[in-house]
Amino acid sequence: MEKIKIAVIGAGTWGQTHVSIYNEHPLAEVTAICDKNKAAAEAAAAKLGVERVYTDYNEMLKYAPCDAVAIVTPDFLHADISIACAKAGKHMLIEKPLATTERDVFAMCEAIEKSGVRAMVDLHNRWNPPFNTAKQIISTGKYGKPCSAYFRLNDRRWVATDMLSWTARSSILWFLGSHSMDTLRWLSNDEPAEIFAMKHEGVLRDVGIDTVDCYQTAIRFRSGMIAQMENSWIVPNGNGNINDMKFNMILERGKVDVDTSSHNMLEFSDDEKTIVPDVLVQNFVFGQCKGFAYESIRSFVDCLATGDEFHVSLKDAANTSLAILKIFESVEKGKSVAVDNLI
Ligand SMILES: NC(=O)c1ccc[n+]([C@@H]2O[C@H](COP(=O)([O-])OP(=O)(O)OC[C@H]3O[C@@H](n4cnc5c(N)ncnc54)[C@H](O)[C@@H]3O)[C@@H](O)[C@H]2O)c1
Repeated sequence: MEKIKIAVIGAGTWGQTHVSIYNEHPLAEVTAICDKNKAAAEAAAAKLGVERVYTDYNEMLKYAPCDAVAIVTPDFLHADISIACAKAGKHMLIEKPLATTERDVFAMCEAIEKSGVRAMVDLHNRWNPPFNTAKQIISTGKYGKPCSAYFRLNDRRWVATDMLSWTARSSILWFLGSHSMDTLRWLSNDEPAEIFAMKHEGVLRDVGIDTVDCYQTAIRFRSGMIAQMENSWIVPNGNGNINDMKFNMILERGKVDVDTSSHNMLEFSDDEKTIVPDVLVQNFVFGQCKGFAYESIRSFVDCLATGDEFHVSLKDAANTSLAILKIFESVEKGKSVAVDNLI
């Protein structure tokens, strides 16, 4: 089988991860890398063995041989690029979130549908082993319908202050909340109907980063399920794991609990602190990328090769972004809002 030619836009932390995974995949080859920062693009290309380097994605789409593109630019810079890819007839894997404005969500869906290309958004928690297993068990119906859920998905403050250079132009709701919203929708097989949210701010602003610290969001789903979503960017850096992630769901005849960040599966302690090394998200085994954050990217290539449906549809990604926009609206209005913007 001929390899799928993939070009990567965005040569930052996660764009380099994409290149590594395609490099390892027997059905993929990376033909080009593009970053508006020339030095970053060249350094990544040299490190990861990519032949062609571009600083303008339109040039890349015109001249680089590619069947598909990975869009790995900051959260708020996915729309124009994906519309250009659709017009150029390229399939695409878009990093989460799909988009951060309603206008962009609809423009991207229209361009992708019109062009007939295939697009997946990397809402990777669907590949997270405990969540995927929970989905399989919930889907049997043995425990009845979901009644309520709680999902806490937070980051160590370091992600906001040090890892990302564009924190102030995004939000913890886009960076992690998109996973929370998608997971709640996916596990319940339902859509949000009403949202009431509150925020806390000041900790990040005090260190010069103009973004909200954390959100608490109450959601009523169409079926009547109620859920609470917590997303914070100010978990102390001493937290054993980069994420602080807890989930539970109460169903008519059962419950499920997930704890992926302080799970007692593997811990190291010294006189200073206890750390919980990552064995689920992005670990390495004998030098190869493993973990669910890599599996979702591999799955994109697999589904392109087989023609199978992606495990995250465009509608899933669009509704996840549209529902998150309702969280901002609720916070701004200080009251609950109807989620009446979904597709
Ligand atoms: N799935 C995951 O586990 C995961 C993890 C981290 C980040 N992400 C997502 O990946 C995306 C990128 O995050 P990151 O941490 O790699 O950010 P980053 O800042 O490290 O890299 C982004 C790169 O995009 C480049 N860029 C910006 N505008 C561009 C343009 N118009 N053309 C070409 N290049 C451009 C920047 O110069 C930068 O090098 C975000 O959407 C983020 O939410 C996903």
